[in-house]
Amino acid sequence: MWKLALPVIIYLCYVNTVINGQVQFRVIRQWKFVNYTWPSTVKYANAVSSGLYIPENVIMAGITYYDNYYYVTMPRMKNGVPATLGRFTALPGLSTAPLVEPFPSWDFNKVGDCDVLQNVQNIEIDPKGMMYILDGGHTHSLLPNPVKNCPAQLIIFDINKNTTVLTHAFAQNVASQTDSFLYDLVIDGDFVYITDNSANDSGIVVYSKQHNRSWKIRHPTMRGDPSAQQFKVNEDVIDVRINIAGIALGPKVQQSKLALVVNEDREVYYCPISSLHLYSISTAVLKNESSSNNNRDFPGEVRDVGLKSSQSDGIIMTNHGVLFYGLLGDNSIAQWNSTTSFTKSQKILSRDVNYIQWTNAFTIDTNGTLTVLSNTLQKFVHGPLDISRYNFWLLSADIGQQSYLYDDPNFEYLPYEHVSTSTTPKPTTSVSSSALPTESESINEIDVNAEGSGNQQLLEFSAVFIGIIVWAFNHN
Ligand SMILES: *[C@@H]1O[C@H](CO)[C@@H](O)[C@H](O)[C@H]1NC(C)=O
Ligand SMILES: *[C@@H]1O[C@H](CO)[C@@H](O)[C@H](O)[C@H]1NC(C)=O
Ligand SMILES: *[C@@H]1O[C@H](CO)[C@@H](O)[C@H](O)[C@H]1NC(C)=O
Ligand SMILES: *[C@@H]1O[C@H](CO)[C@@H](O)[C@H](O)[C@H]1NC(C)=O
Ligand SMILES: *[C@@H]1O[C@H](CO)[C@@H](O)[C@H](O)[C@H]1NC(C)=O
Ligand SMILES: *[C@@H]1O[C@H](CO)[C@@H](O)[C@H](O)[C@H]1NC(C)=O
Ligand SMILES: *[C@@H]1O[C@H](CO)[C@@H](O)[C@H](O)[C@H]1NC(C)=O
Repeated sequence: MWKLALPVIIYLCYVNTVINGQVQFRVIRQWKFVNYTWPSTVKYANAVSSGLYIPENVIMAGITYYDNYYYVTMPRMKNGVPATLGRFTALPGLSTAPLVEPFPSWDFNKVGDCDVLQNVQNIEIDPKGMMYILDGGHTHSLLPNPVKNCPAQLIIFDINKNTTVLTHAFAQNVASQTDSFLYDLVIDGDFVYITDNSANDSGIVVYSKQHNRSWKIRHPTMRGDPSAQQFKVNEDVIDVRINIAGIALGPKVQQSKLALVVNEDREVYYCPISSLHLYSISTAVLKNESSSNNNRDFPGEVRDVGLKSSQSDGIIMTNHGVLFYGLLGDNSIAQWNSTTSFTKSQKILSRDVNYIQWTNAFTIDTNGTLTVLSNTLQKFVHGPLDISRYNFWLLSADIGQQSYLYDDPNFEYLPYEHVSTSTTPKPTTSVSSSALPTESESINEIDVNAEGSGNQQLLEFSAVFIGIIVWAFNHN
């Protein structure tokens, strides 16, 4: 047994705010690399020397809050990722770079064993503590020889009972073992909607819990747009066509202010990474298994919501219909109230070249705090991370709303009337990547405070030093 006292500085820096202080992001955690709660120093030393753990190769990609924990995913895109799912406390802690505790256990994260988690990209957790885990199955996708021995699976895990409830391996024609890339998901009662970022068979995979069945809906708007595939995050250029990734679920629609009838069909929002468009599709289409036949058009059911000023990865919607998303090429976080016009009322909340580097995922805790994981993915895809500098940040802001997973019985949602609902949108982007709107000439009425961006340097370093505390921990 040994004791160690480590001084830890708690930073509480504010991230650059572009518009006048409605939503203020603060940096709540920051890491140079992901490290884990190793069972012993011997196990840790062995993992390092055997290459089971290579810190430069571990990226944090997904984040979901539940019951005072942040659950995070570390997809096995490269070798040296000892656990692909883990967690750490969401309570104001003593460390700004907490160790990740493999979840639910080290054994359940063993690489090479198809009966346990292999490559988790994202998870979602319902209010009852059912965790929906997307395990892509194949690993080492960024290496020359990807390993494709295990099927793509959806695993439902009961956090409170600490047990697996269900494992659903997808059929080859839904999410193939060799080509699928299950990316992100939303839960809609009995149904789960999952984006498949597959290079040659992208779409939305639908899972029905009641029937333990799955199918895939394909549409041209779910594929990346070659004219929007090139963009830059700081100095790093991304130039590869990337299909559907981010997905968000709109609130239940109350059909009229007087009627009590609530339409169970909701709107699913999605965007390919290589696209400037936000699209939506009615869950009525997704829930109908016969929609999966052929490449159907769904006129009036797929909508082109409008253009953004840059590409996005993860997106999230609140139970009051407000969408939050990152603008990757613009180092910024934006929001849109979906009862208003997308073209006219997108707002950039924060822009910061240091802290906002690839907003991969968003989560909302039960206290109404939005948390964003910014993870420098643009560097990770080009080589090992430079672990002498910060690579991952959690940025939080109080938004006073809950996640889409929480019904608000008093909330009346009347969606924005879309202009063209009778024609099927074409997935072509009229704005080419070289002509992305700049700050000053961005999409109509994006609320950007030019002064804020001019003073960026000053604001970026406005770190507020809170204090030095001593973190003492016992280790057996
Ligand atoms: C990683 O965490 C373990 C404790 O689990 C610790 O012993 C080790 O020193 C850490 N490694 C680094 C490089 O911080
Ligand atoms: C949520 O708010 C409660 C009451 O203010 C507080 O005790 C709890 O720590 C908060 N949870 C998080 C994750 O911040
Ligand atoms: C959950 O179960 C696993 C064994 O399957 C165990 O290793 C782990 O400690 C348990 N977690 C909790 C929080 O009890
Ligand atoms: C659900 O479907 C999968 C097939 O993907 C099957 O392996 C599993 O046994 C099914 N579970 C139940 C409870 O029927
Ligand atoms: C996707 O591409 C791979 C190889 O490039 C090929 O083997 C596979 O059949 C393709 N899948 C589909 C659904 O087109
Ligand atoms: C499902 O889709 C098929 C084919 O488009 C259609 O004929 C059928 O009416 C739909 N079912 C429901 C319940 O909407
Ligand atoms: C969204 O916009 C509507 C209509 O302008 C407004 O009534 C509502 O309060 C807004 N919602 C939020 C969460 O700001």
